[in-house]
Amino acid sequence: MQWRQRTYCGTLSKSDADSSVLLMGWVDAIRDHGNVLFIHMRDTSGIIQVVFDPEISKSAHELSKLLKEEFVIQVKGKVRIREKGTENPYIRTGDIEVIAQELQILARSKVLPFQISEKAMVFGEEIKSSPKNIDEELRLKYRYLDLRRPSVQELLRKRYEIIKQIRDCLHQKGFVEIETPYLTKSTPEGARDYLVPSRVHKGKFYALPQSPQLFKQICMIGGVDKYFQIARCFRDEDLRPNRQPEFTQLDLEASFIDEEFIYETIEEIIVKIFKIGEIELKRPFLRMTYEDAMNRYGTDRPDLRFGMEMIDVTDVVKNTGYSIFRSIIEKGGVVKGFCIRGEAQRLSKNLLQNEYAMKIAPSFGAKGMTWMKLLNGRLQSNIVQFFSEAEQDGLKKRFDARDGDVLIMVADQSKELVNEVLGRLRLDFAKRLDLIPEDLYVPVWITDFPLFELKDGEISPKHHPFTMPEKEEFDPKNKDELLSLKARAYDIVVNGEELGGGSIRIHKLEIQKRIFEAIGIDPETAEQKFGFFLRALEYGAPPHGGIALGIDRTVAMILKTESIRDVIAFPKNRKAVCLLTGAPTEVEKEQLEELGIRIEKGAESETSDQSPKKQQITADQVRHIARLARLEIEEEELSVLSKDLGDILSYVEQLNELNVDDIPPSTGVLEIKNVWRDDQISEDPSVMDDIIEQSPEKEDRFFKVPKVIQ
Ligand code: AMO
Repeated sequence: MQWRQRTYCGTLSKSDADSSVLLMGWVDAIRDHGNVLFIHMRDTSGIIQVVFDPEISKSAHELSKLLKEEFVIQVKGKVRIREKGTENPYIRTGDIEVIAQELQILARSKVLPFQISEKAMVFGEEIKSSPKNIDEELRLKYRYLDLRRPSVQELLRKRYEIIKQIRDCLHQKGFVEIETPYLTKSTPEGARDYLVPSRVHKGKFYALPQSPQLFKQICMIGGVDKYFQIARCFRDEDLRPNRQPEFTQLDLEASFIDEEFIYETIEEIIVKIFKIGEIELKRPFLRMTYEDAMNRYGTDRPDLRFGMEMIDVTDVVKNTGYSIFRSIIEKGGVVKGFCIRGEAQRLSKNLLQNEYAMKIAPSFGAKGMTWMKLLNGRLQSNIVQFFSEAEQDGLKKRFDARDGDVLIMVADQSKELVNEVLGRLRLDFAKRLDLIPEDLYVPVWITDFPLFELKDGEISPKHHPFTMPEKEEFDPKNKDELLSLKARAYDIVVNGEELGGGSIRIHKLEIQKRIFEAIGIDPETAEQKFGFFLRALEYGAPPHGGIALGIDRTVAMILKTESIRDVIAFPKNRKAVCLLTGAPTEVEKEQLEELGIRIEKGAESETSDQSPKKQQITADQVRHIARLARLEIEEEELSVLSKDLGDILSYVEQLNELNVDDIPPSTGVLEIKNVWRDDQISEDPSVMDDIIEQSPEKEDRFFKVPKVIQ
């Protein structure tokens, strides 16, 4: 290859006019004018128009007729300024083109499963394709084609830039990048482990790290002082749009520091990397305690881009005539709510009552929801008559309500439930009413987390068991005391998304042992699982702490992509399958034998072949459905119908896999069209006239039939 002479397509400009160039890349799009053929030629730097003109080179023009999209080619030619009026503003090099003198086809391509080209060749023409319009599963299966899109490459390049910025920043601050092992022992972060069987030690397994937590702490004990790593983490957990089974963290840890060191370091990094997405953030970031976040926003990931803060009104309505509120308060419950400013018009009574109070709030776990509108100085709702004037005034005052505002209230014996439901309603209303400013970014540190929480009635660490409690003295057997303990932990949250979390760690063996005892890990199990770490704590561990920032989530936010999958080169789908390679797949019997592993019959995964599981419908089921539908069917139709029904159910099953969380419900109305049954049309037009003539209601040449519901 003549790579030394190569010029990149996207780097050419007017100043290169008349110079000779050698281009290598792909055919992005073709336009054949018969006498002259134009192509868009694309490489990693961009696109340039190449012209094949028989007057310049007959052979290159002849060969160019064979070109198809995504052929790999080499072109030798001369740069020239385009004629006035033929410039293309869609591409950076749109005011120039290359006249081909030589063409070489380096590789051919099959017909594409989807369009790759994103740039129209002529100004005003529709831009061809955007990743958004193509099924994501297809894009992931042919990821090598998808990666060729300039928009996809741009995301990967920006991701690299962000990571490089992080590395540079930490390097300057004296951090050392250290790789910790992937084949290791389980590190608890609340998910299941991915296990790797050992061939040498049959029956034994490595665990892929859920995070490098213990290794980074051991680095501190080893005197490293300031560690970081762009680390891959593996967690077998239920997938959500912002979760991947393997993902990347900026993991860091430092010795002889406190929370302020972490806040400073991370704020500096976050401000720098958000700039790459042209997002300016102000420092210092806001701080909010966990308790405050839960009380005011109903979540420890508050979205602070808009108001609608939750307010307690229990005292205002404690003697109300509205018995639902009164009885809940008498039993020790609370009434809280928030005010939606100026939306009384858009929030109809029907929507508030029939949709929110009857359906949405109950789906979030509430027993009900109360709403009131303030119109012409008076509160209005279906239950407002049960509230005294003083109570109504009290509510108006507490919510600082003005004309046109809507008050939303929820009551329950459990304050936690009220907080959670209101938190979700707050987000739901804000999204529906479009109240969330898109270009605003509000970072906030959430602090003072509880050290423990109850999981299935058991004491369990809120973060992980290596987090330092705010006080060192506590009784590991006293459940109430344990649940009241605060942790020296912090999360960094931006726009309702948790980007990172960390803590100051336990560096004293005795406290670590007591934490294990509190969460029900007996000394033997602690020894077996974490003995290596407990040993390390016996030899002088410095006070230390750290944090991990989810790189995929952070990059997706900076680059404003819909999903974290968009900023990962080879992501897995929502079923944790790599569609490109088909992983996970079965392995050879011999491989399993070497590992001493036998797969039990019936334990094979339903999705191992990737194709959706076919639904089996028995003949009896078909007969039953036919009976219900009052259909008479012949015995010979049974097999066809059971296959058809199976196909329909399999299809419906696939629809269940779709993520429709953010898609509003829609209704479709079919166009009304009159049709004649073609099996019964008479040759004789007078027959139709006869039918129309006899019909009870008619209009022109049509007669009326009863309305049918589709
Ligand atoms: P934590 O479990 O909170 O902390 O993880 C830190 C950050 O990693 C990101 N993250 C994920 N991103 C994509 N897919 C996932 N499945 C996923 N899970 C987590 C989130 C999260 O905030 N060892 C501790 C850190 C510490 O204490 O220093 C830890 O891993 O952005």
